[in-house]
Amino acid sequence: MNRKSLIKYFRLIFLLLFSFMLSCGGDDDINVVIIDDEGETPISVDFDIIVSETNTFEISVNNTSTGITGLNSYWQFTENGEVVPDVAGPERHVYTMSGDYLVTLTVEAPDGDIAVSKTVIITGTDEGPALKVATNNTFSMGMAVRSDRLTGSHNAVLVREFNNLTAEFEMKMDQIYKTEGSLDFTAADAIVDYGVANNMDIHGHTLVWHNSIPGWMNNFSGTDEEFETLVKDYITTVMQRYAGKVRSWDVVNEAIEDGSNNLRNSIFRVRMGDDYIQKCYQYARDADPNAILFYNDYNVTFDSGKQSAMFAIVDDLMSNNLIDGVGAQMHIAYDFPSKAQIQSVVDGTVSRGLKMHFAELDIRVNPNNDITSLTEQRAIAQQNKAKEVAEIYNAIPDENKFALTLWGMRDSESWLPAFWGQPEWGLFYNEDFTPKKSHTGLIEGFR
Ligand code: G3I
Repeated sequence: MNRKSLIKYFRLIFLLLFSFMLSCGGDDDINVVIIDDEGETPISVDFDIIVSETNTFEISVNNTSTGITGLNSYWQFTENGEVVPDVAGPERHVYTMSGDYLVTLTVEAPDGDIAVSKTVIITGTDEGPALKVATNNTFSMGMAVRSDRLTGSHNAVLVREFNNLTAEFEMKMDQIYKTEGSLDFTAADAIVDYGVANNMDIHGHTLVWHNSIPGWMNNFSGTDEEFETLVKDYITTVMQRYAGKVRSWDVVNEAIEDGSNNLRNSIFRVRMGDDYIQKCYQYARDADPNAILFYNDYNVTFDSGKQSAMFAIVDDLMSNNLIDGVGAQMHIAYDFPSKAQIQSVVDGTVSRGLKMHFAELDIRVNPNNDITSLTEQRAIAQQNKAKEVAEIYNAIPDENKFALTLWGMRDSESWLPAFWGQPEWGLFYNEDFTPKKSHTGLIEGFR
């Protein structure tokens, strides 16, 4: 062995001993330094690993080693040892099952392979990330449902992704109280029984709403006192029927008139007086003291006048301990309202120590009727808005969280097109029940 080789040999022995001492420090990156008369660059093997924000089954790895120019390197992502060549730039790998996996980068160095391994934890169900999992159990994921959409693929999506249900219309007065003197709970029972059977919370929507008054009640010929007794008995009967099953209620919905921000002149106000809201919440509190009572309204993000009028009602109810939460209906668009406007209703609710329900979320992509199909650009804009809403909700203090409720599953099932008289794709699932980009946006925002 000539002098030069001897020097190299002893240097290598020294460095291996030095590296051994280093590795005893528990560092998972083995740094091997090889120096010789030519002063080669030291080899240091390492890599970055990132779990995708939009798909918890996907990872991206990037070789950050130094001193490996001209050397081959390869990846191993699973226990079967399958080798994936390391090429310039990051590599991605998508797992199909959740679990803990060892990711290994091996560099074929002149004096033997050098391997660095790191563990990655893959979570989520096999069909991809589920919304109720992504909330990290700090709040419920709600879905508006109908009694004729609780089986098949609707059921599959509901049980996998949701743990809170709102009847889109079948628990309203005009559906239960169609006939004077006779309450029909058939559809409401079907929804409540489904929720109970699947260990889901049920959000009762809604006991008193000017838009769901049965026809006979509009023509009620009795006295105002008899009308008030009728409303009290209705609230009491419905809430006592579902006590212990329906965890929360929108007692009064949309009591504020757009523009004036005064109380609507609904039949409830006309026949029960300006304090009808207080009366209805007192009936509700008495009927089921364990229920969480909400006031629910729309446009209370960007319309500061309406928001102030709502919080005046809320403060009035709080003075008698008759309210526990605020439901802000999130019927929004891909470009409106702003993040700050949405945040404002959160701030008003949280500052009062109340629970925040982001209710009725749908995100219009065609507010100006300028598209005839859901374009890639609008789908991405919808995804970004969904992410923004989810980020805002996720940042609420845990004690003020309640639920984020989607107002329907597939675009074809949404109330939006009929209401606006134009095409809309405001929801979160495709016709085949697969998640849309807007669903991904929620997952991103919950991260
Ligand atoms: O399913 C029946 C059908 O069998 C019948 O032939 C048809 C005609 O009578 O009615 C159908 O039920 C309709 C139901 O939507 C399903 O399409 C009801 O009449 C109709 O009143 C109901 O509209 C609902 C509306 O509230 C009124 O209750 C919408 O689905 C629902 O999205 C909408 O939701 C409201 C929230 O409760 C409060 N915030 C605003 C939001 C949108 O208006």
